[in-house]
This record gives sequence, structure tokens and C-alpha cells, in this order.
Amino acid sequence: MNKIMVEKSPPLRGNVRISGAKNSALPILAASLLGTEDIILEDVPKLKDVEVICEVLSSLGAKVEFLDKGIIKINSKDINNYETPYELMSKMRASFLVMGPLLTRLGKTKTSLPGGCAIGTRPIDLHLKGFRALGAEIDVDHGNIGAYADRLVGDRIYLDFPSVGATENIMMAAVMAEGETIIDNAAMEPEIVDLANFLNKLGADIKGAGTSSIRIKGVKELGGATHSIIPDRIEAGTFMVAAAITKGDIVVENVITSHIKPVIAKLREAGCQIYENGDKVRVIGADEIKAVDIKTLPYPGFPTDMQAQFMSLMSVSQGTSVIIETVFENRFMHVDELKRMGADIKIDGRSAIIQGVDSLMSAPVKATDLRAGAALVLAGLVSDGVTEIGDIYHIDRGYDNIEEKITKLGAKIYRV
Ligand code: UD1
Repeated sequence: MNKIMVEKSPPLRGNVRISGAKNSALPILAASLLGTEDIILEDVPKLKDVEVICEVLSSLGAKVEFLDKGIIKINSKDINNYETPYELMSKMRASFLVMGPLLTRLGKTKTSLPGGCAIGTRPIDLHLKGFRALGAEIDVDHGNIGAYADRLVGDRIYLDFPSVGATENIMMAAVMAEGETIIDNAAMEPEIVDLANFLNKLGADIKGAGTSSIRIKGVKELGGATHSIIPDRIEAGTFMVAAAITKGDIVVENVITSHIKPVIAKLREAGCQIYENGDKVRVIGADEIKAVDIKTLPYPGFPTDMQAQFMSLMSVSQGTSVIIETVFENRFMHVDELKRMGADIKIDGRSAIIQGVDSLMSAPVKATDLRAGAALVLAGLVSDGVTEIGDIYHIDRGYDNIEEKITKLGAKIYRV
């Protein structure tokens, strides 16, 4: 099993280009099942999760071609299979996003319960609530879920929580339903807007994406389009924390700064200097990192996907900080790993109380989930000795070329 080794780093310096967003690429690739003409996607990040969803598309009968770097061509004219194989489903929760497109395109879809990061029970009740409201019959047995509908008819759907995946899945199911669908208390993440923009390019009629109320007027069919994936705000945030934790000076390129406002605000509170310039952000770390409190929330709040990375930063801050995780109920698995490296963290329900320490020390640790893996790389950059990170397949699921990018900034990080 591969491991990533991280040596204690000098302050990181230089420029790093952010890749396309994983959480945009995955739903957009799933949505490519809806079009009957060629679709070209640009700036698709090179990630294990992208490979998996492309395998899912191929298994359903779509033609998927990897063209130049970051460019994928998909043709879904002849999709003929409505069942997603268990092996692929169990690898990645986002595979569940093909259900909405298949339901509306083929009138039926069957899959096993989704896998992915073990950061909570992660139910799918809201996805199913939406499908039912559109007229689908849902059949759950022996770990399989089927959804069937001769015709889908638009309806008004209220989400009890603004779930990203449920908003996307319902939006994709509704694009070819008869009449109008309104999703209330919809997720407002930039990735939802990217998906809606893509679907509209294919010929859909979606308004209000990015607000809490999305209106979808059903159309008869969708065609093709060329679309560039938005930059990954979580990868950008991770590199910004890398600058902060190593007291470095990094210019992060290819970012949409309005997408990372909470990360910018919290890094400034922690004492970093941040300069925004078009699609670039320069982060200069502070000599002393101030302790700041964080509460994760749906967008535009502080992203849960940046919680673990900030916890690494707070582990070496001057003072005590409290991090409250409100989105997932079990997203503190990195805490035990950080404690092995000398961090002083106590968990109380959904809160973590972090007492900053002067230094961390290397230890063999495990990437318990994707963002936890990133947090351990960041902690490794400021730990005495060489940190050995296992279970790195989690990191490969979501970070495009992480070693190369950090190495270019002056760190010593390699795979064994
Ligand atoms: C997406 C992101 C993930 C991010 C998360 C929250 C992708 C591929 N993944 O995951 O990186 O951490 O948004 O920003 O885009 N919930 C329900 N019922 C449902 C669905 C969700 O109760 O039917 C709950 C979940 O258990 C969780 C919360 O809603 O507590 C948020 O989950 P959701 O927004 O759906 O996250 P994902 O779409 O899985």
C-alpha cells in the first residue's frame, strides 16, 4: 500500500495553479448522461473519483474519451443500462448522482447504497423524497435502491436540509419532467450553479441556482455543449492553509475569490495577510498564528470540507480555538491522528476544543477520509521528522497531483 512521506518544510513560496473542482466535475459528468449529442468538458481534475464516475458512465453505455489534459468527451446518445454496478458504487458516494439523470432519461434506475468517505451516516432520504415528489416509485431491498417512473411531473419540493447531492440529483431528474419543479431550501454551493449553467447549455431551463429556491421548467430533450469546470475552492483553501501553517508566501492561481470568502476571512483573523487580485490570491503567513473559532455551515458559511485543514492550523496556534461541525455528525476522525502528532484536542459532541501547541512531531498516521488526509499533509509540513501517511487513496480521490504541486512550493513530500 502506498504511503505519502512529508518532511518538515521551510516556509512554502511560489505560485500554484488550482485544478477544476471535484465537486463540480462529478455531478456534471453524471449530468452528461442527459445529453444526446457530444459533450466536451474542460479543466476536469485528474482524480480517482473522476476515473470512477467515468467508469460508471461507460458501464451505462456512454462513450467516454479522455482527450487532452483535463479534457473529456462524452456521448450518451446510446445509453442502454440503468443499473450501476456495486463495485463502482461502493467506491464513491457521488456515483449516486447518476440516479436522477437515469430516472428522467430511461424512466428507471437501480443501484446499491452509496459508499465514499465514512464521515457520518450520510442518508439519501432527501434525494428519494425529491424523486418521489416527481412521481417515481422507490423500491429499497437488500442494499439496493430502484427508482421507476413512466413519466415524471414537476412539483414543489422542500429540502429539510440544503443537501448538495439531493439538490443536484433532484435538479437533474427534474430537467426533463413535465411542467415546473421548484426546490426550496436548496443548497446554494457554487458547484450547484456550475451544474445548472452546464444543464442550461445543454438546453435545460433552470433559474435561481445559487439561491435557496431553484425553478426548473421541464424540456423535451437535451443536446450537447462545451463547458469548463469551475476552480476547486477546497483545493484553493487547502493551499492557502499550507501558506499559513508554514509561515510562507504563496500565490494561489485560478480561484474565484467570492467562493472562498469564509476561508479568506478566517485566515485574516488568524493573522495572515491576504491580497486578492483577479483570479489570484496571495497568502502571507503570520509569525504567530492566532487561535480562531470556526463553525461549519452550508454555503455561504464556512465549508465542512475545510474543517480538518483548519484544525491542523489551529493545532499550532497561540491559544484555544473551538471548531463546531454542524454539517456532518462524525467528521472528527482526523482528531485522533492529529493527537498522535502531538496536537492537544478534545472532542465534546460536535465541538472540538484545540489548545495550540508549540510544535508537532511526526508519527505514522492514516488518512481517515479525503480532507482528513489533506489535514495530515499540512500538519506533516510543520512536524519534526518525517510524517508517514497511510491510506492515501483517500487523498488521491480528491487532490490533483498534490505532491508535485507542494514540492514546487519548496516542500519535501514523496510517495513510497
Ligand atoms: C457534498 C460534497 C462534499 C461536502 C458536502 C457538504 C460532492 C461530491 N460532495 O456531499 O464534499 O462535504 O457536500 O458540503 O459534492 N443529508 C441527509 N439526507 C440526504 C442527504 C444528505 O440527511 O438525503 C445530510 C447528510 O447526512 C449531511 C448533510 O445532509 O449531514 C450534508 O450532506 P450533503 O450536502 O448531501 O453532502 P453530499 O452531497 O454528500
